Amino acid sequence: MYFDESEDLLEFSITEEKISCDYGVLEYEIDGEGAIVHSISVYRKRLGIGTKLVGLFEDLAMKEDAKFVEVPVSPNKEAIMFWKSLKYKPSTDDAKYWTRKITHSWREDSWDTPQGVVVMEKTFKSKSKKFAK
Ligand SMILES: CC(C)(COP(=O)(O)OP(=O)(O)OC[C@H]1O[C@@H](n2cnc3c(N)ncnc32)[C@H](O)[C@@H]1OP(=O)(O)O)[C@@H](O)C(=O)NCCC(=O)NCCS
Repeated sequence: MYFDESEDLLEFSITEEKISCDYGVLEYEIDGEGAIVHSISVYRKRLGIGTKLVGLFEDLAMKEDAKFVEVPVSPNKEAIMFWKSLKYKPSTDDAKYWTRKITHSWREDSWDTPQGVVVMEKTFKSKSKKFAK
């Protein structure tokens, strides 16, 4: 990862509620088949730290047999582009509308969406399905 190339090697700690390192934190909940990311913030951006936090979270969610992840994404371009880069998709037609509108605009600050967020999701492919194809 990019951040490994800097002078300080990052250590990540995982608890039942959050995954964190010196430069970022992801708060989550895993409840049966569904996992949710309540928040993610990174203090040194564009170094792959957010990607690493989500990767660790997804590994954990899959290990606990979650089938999908839902994220109430802040309605701004940075957050939506980040989750899109990780293959998360808008969860409803309304979320799709806002995702398109926000990512196609020049505007960088937050939008007022009806829900205050844009819900995005990712479904984990089950191994049996993958190999059955
Ligand atoms: C969103 C956030 C967590 C991303 O963390 P990060 O460590 O900077 O993300 P990464 O470096 O792993 O970025 C992965 C990819 O996401 C996309 N991305 C991230 N920030 C982006 C931005 N500002 N504009 C466009 N694409 C962006 C890029 O494709 C990026 O890959 P690249 O750097 O190789 O182009 C961070 O910007 C942040 O804390 N923002 C403020 C809080 C917030 O909005 N949290 C999300 C709430 S749901």
